Amino acid sequence: MTTPSLSAFARGLTAETAFDVLAVAKKLKAAGKDVIELQIGDSPYPSSSSALVTGKAALDAGHTHYGPSMGLPEFRAGLSKLVRDEFGIAAGPENVVVAPGAKPFEQFFCELFLEPGDAVLVFEPAFPTYAPNLARRGAAMVTAPLTPEREFRPDLGAVERFLRDEPRAKAVFLNSPHNPTGGVASKSDLEGLAALLRGTNVALFSDEPYCHMVWSGRHHSPLAEPGMMERTVAAYTFSKSYSMSGWRCGFAVTAPPLADLIGKMINTAISCTPPFVQLAGLAAITHDAAERDRTMGEFRKKVELLVRELGTVPGVSAVMPVGTFYVFPDVRPICRRLGITSHGLAMYLLEGADDRVGVACLGGECFGTAGQGFLRFSTAEPDDRLRAAVAFLAEAVTRTKRIEEYLEAHPKYRAGTN
Ligand SMILES: Cc1ncc(COP(=O)(O)O)c(C=O)c1O
Repeated sequence: MTTPSLSAFARGLTAETAFDVLAVAKKLKAAGKDVIELQIGDSPYPSSSSALVTGKAALDAGHTHYGPSMGLPEFRAGLSKLVRDEFGIAAGPENVVVAPGAKPFEQFFCELFLEPGDAVLVFEPAFPTYAPNLARRGAAMVTAPLTPEREFRPDLGAVERFLRDEPRAKAVFLNSPHNPTGGVASKSDLEGLAALLRGTNVALFSDEPYCHMVWSGRHHSPLAEPGMMERTVAAYTFSKSYSMSGWRCGFAVTAPPLADLIGKMINTAISCTPPFVQLAGLAAITHDAAERDRTMGEFRKKVELLVRELGTVPGVSAVMPVGTFYVFPDVRPICRRLGITSHGLAMYLLEGADDRVGVACLGGECFGTAGQGFLRFSTAEPDDRLRAAVAFLAEAVTRTKRIEEYLEAHPKYRAGTN
C-alpha cells in the first residue's frame, strides 16, 4: 500500500529524552520494579493551594469555554506586575502573552524571527527541544559549550565570535538558571550580552522557567537591561514555581507588537490557554508567594542533600548548582573505568543493574555532546529515596558482571561506539 511520504522535518524530528526515559521507568514500575524516579524535571509537591481551590471553583463556575488568544486581561495584568516587582522588568499587561507552558514559546520565537538558513547560537548542554524548534524553521544551530570551569555561565566571547563570524547570525538562546547544569548568568553577564546584542539584527530567546530557584544571589532577566524588550522573548512557567506542570500554564514577556504576533500564532495553533487554568494561575500569583518560597526552600534542601550524598561516591564529583532543582555530577572517571557512555550508565542504573530496584536519571548527552560524562538528577522524590538512589548508584557501578552483560546486550552504550 502506498502511503504519503513524510516531510524531512518529521523524518528528522528529535524529542525530549526525559519523556522516553519516563515511559521506560513507568513500564518497569508497572511490572513491579521499585524505580526511584529522578529523570524528569517535575515537582513532587502538590500544585499551589490557591490554584487548586480556584481552578476547581472556576470549572464549576463555567470557565470552560474559549478565551482570548493572548490570555485573560486580569491574568496578563497580574503577570506583568509579577515580573515588574520581582525582576525589575518594565512591563505592562500589553507586554504579556499566555500559553500552555513555557515550551510553546520556543516554537513561536522561531516563527517570529527565523528564516531558513539563519544561524542561532545555543549554549550546550541545551534543553533538547531547542534543536527541533530551530529545525521547524530550517535554521542552523551553532553551539558554544558551557563548562564547569566557568560555572556553566554563558561565555560572552562565544557570542562575540558568533556575531562576528556568522553572516546569517539571527538569534541567541539563553537559559538561566540553566537546565541541566544549574548554572546562572550573572547580572554582569547579562549586561555584557545586552551590550553585544543592542543595535544588531539579532534576537534573544530567554528561557527562564527556574526564575524562582536561584540559590545564591537572585534571578536576573536580560529583559531588565536597557533596549532588550524589542529584541527579546522571555519565557516563564507555572510548572516549577507553583508545581503546576500538568495544568500547562506559562507566559512570555516581550515588546507589545511581538506579543500581538505571538497571540496570532496561538490563535492559529491552539486558540487559547484554558481560562480556568489561567484563573488558577492568577490565584497562585496573588495569594501563594509565601507558599512558593517555602517550596523553593524545600527544593534547595533536597539539592543540597543530593550534592552531599553524591560527593561520597568514588568517581563522582557534584557541585552545588547556583540555581534549579537539578544536580549535574561529573561521572567521567566511572564512565572511563566501565567503558560506558553516561547515558548508557543512566540506562544501566534503570534497567540493568538490578532486577528489583532501579534509578531513573538522564545522561548528560541527552542535552548535546557537551553533556557527555555527566548525569542529570532531578530532586522529585522524598529525601530517603534520594539517599537510596545514591547508595544504589555507588553499589551498582561495582557490579562488574552485570555491567558487562548490559553492555553486551546494548552495545550502543559502549564508550567510543558513537
Ligand atoms: C529549560 C526549560 N525550558 C522549558 C521547559 C518547559 O516548561 P513548561 O512545562 O512550562 O513547558 C523546561 C521544563 O523542564 C525547561 O527545563
